[in-house]
Amino acid sequence: MISDEAEKVLKVDFKGAANLVTQVDVAAENIIIETVGSHFPDHQFLAEEAGESETKSDYLWIIDPIDGTTNFVHGYPFYAVSIAVYEGGEALAGVVNHVQFGDVYSAIKGRGAFCNGKPISVSNTRTLKHSLLATGFAYEHDEVWARNMDLFREFTAMTQGVRRAGAASLDFCHVARGWLDGFWEFGLSPWDMAAGALIVSEAGGVVSLSNGDPFDLFSGDAVASNGHLHEQIVQLLGRDSA
Ligand code: IPD
Ligand code: CA
Ligand code: CA
Repeated sequence: MISDEAEKVLKVDFKGAANLVTQVDVAAENIIIETVGSHFPDHQFLAEEAGESETKSDYLWIIDPIDGTTNFVHGYPFYAVSIAVYEGGEALAGVVNHVQFGDVYSAIKGRGAFCNGKPISVSNTRTLKHSLLATGFAYEHDEVWARNMDLFREFTAMTQGVRRAGAASLDFCHVARGWLDGFWEFGLSPWDMAAGALIVSEAGGVVSLSNGDPFDLFSGDAVASNGHLHEQIVQLLGRDSA
């Protein structure tokens, strides 16, 4: 359904100068909430377009109906649907559907990570100079954004490259399947990270805050890696924030 809409001319609204939303974001989100809600009417929802539902529950479904809306609007095929369910603040399960590639990433806490049902695991790269990383940039062009531009240049100089594909949920999944060795970003929202962070952990990787503290969905930043490079990435991020 989302990929059908990608072929059409869309009505695009602006949440900010570069922050787009289409009717497909809203329609897809409504379908997801209705579908999940029909099975779990007592559960709570946190969705990018609709916000938080009024129902209070230990079970929280976190939904990004289209992660990578700018790509979607431009027909650039890196966008995904991201859905996760948390219980009492702990991730239970997550799924990221890379619509245009037909890749469905999934994880259940303690049971591993999968792409289209096949187990995936992080890379074994042990040095930054052999690594391929990714980052992303929030819509607001503030000090954090400027600092990440500097970091982008610095990491590019010491690795085999830093990608910026524009869909954080997929950046996590590409670390999980070993295509990327690490990913960091500032200014993320819970729905950008909820499913992807679990998928990386279940694929054998490490996810933390950018300062190395335990990952927190509501903190706004994250580093995900294959584990071997984690400390090095965190240290370099910290050095530049000083
Ligand atoms: C965005 C994407 C992008 C990231 C931004 C997010 P959206 O989500 O994940 O990669 O750099 O920080 O806001 O707005 O396309 O759902
Ligand atoms: Ca998003
Ligand atoms: Ca979105």
